[in-house]
Amino acid sequence: MKKIGVFTSGGDAPGMNACIRAVVRTGKYYGLEVVGIRRGFQGLVDGDYMEMGPGAVSGIIQQGGTILRSARCKAFFTPEGRQKAYEQMKAKELDALVAIGGDGTFTGARIFMNEYPDVAIVGCPGTIDNDLFGTDFTIGYDTAINTAMNAIDNIKDTANAHDRLFFIEVMGRDAGFIALPTALACGAEAVLVPETKTSIDELVKILENGMGKKKNSSIVIVAEGDELGGAYKVAEEVGKRFQGYEIRVSILGHLQRGGRPTCMERVRASQMGHAAVRALLDGKSGVMIGIIDKEIVHTPFEKAIKHHQDLNPMLLEMIGILS
Ligand code: F6P
Repeated sequence: MKKIGVFTSGGDAPGMNACIRAVVRTGKYYGLEVVGIRRGFQGLVDGDYMEMGPGAVSGIIQQGGTILRSARCKAFFTPEGRQKAYEQMKAKELDALVAIGGDGTFTGARIFMNEYPDVAIVGCPGTIDNDLFGTDFTIGYDTAINTAMNAIDNIKDTANAHDRLFFIEVMGRDAGFIALPTALACGAEAVLVPETKTSIDELVKILENGMGKKKNSSIVIVAEGDELGGAYKVAEEVGKRFQGYEIRVSILGHLQRGGRPTCMERVRASQMGHAAVRALLDGKSGVMIGIIDKEIVHTPFEKAIKHHQDLNPMLLEMIGILS
């Protein structure tokens, strides 16, 4: 193996830059040429590559976003798009790829590898959602939950000052991995996640109990993927039956995706990028790098995408006990 490419794809996540840096510098250490591919699969299709020596990744470990940019590429999900991507790889003599992204990225990578078996791809889990199987933490998750926690703390101050009930929506299209720990860490009264069915009656009861305990404000964290349809919808339903507080809604949105990665984020992203290059050199392909109980593990893409980590039921229960 002489030349590898690295790209970031799907929703960006803090720590992606630390991972890119680790891939480039580990590649260099083992005598490989490394190219950066801009805008994920889109750059693969367009042949939008840049040579990356160790200097190209100086001063990026602390930056959010991704210096390689990211995209959700439709063209790659057509056979013609993938053929173009393959031809570009061959023309540039790329032997293998490190793909940093989430389930969409690994789904695309799997299809590509099935069609072109001589393409080797190793993945690093990059998504704030933490919704991949085969790793305790995805790149971006730790930073995102801390960003969300700080934002919720701020909202709590104003909720208290005005005797208000806030419904705060956090990201998490399919999973409550951002909602649950932030709810616990911020002392929220309740958390609504896609993994459990939400009952408005129960929620109203919780809020009434809170009033009974002389709480002058309340916070409910809503994962964006909750089956009731987001914080505005939940607020509307609750508002019909509960007039204890004035209600406000806050959608944290993309602010959760940016910002300086935390220390552990940088460490884990570096470990994963380093492990991805080592895995390619060991002849591995079609696997996602993960960290479970502090150990590096390799999980086939199919398993990483299809299986799901479970939310910790004890944490869910604790929200009710501790609030
Ligand atoms: O996959 C990460 C994520 O941030 C999800 O939590 C969210 O639903 C989605 O991306 C938003 O994507 P976009 O930035 O394309 O709107």
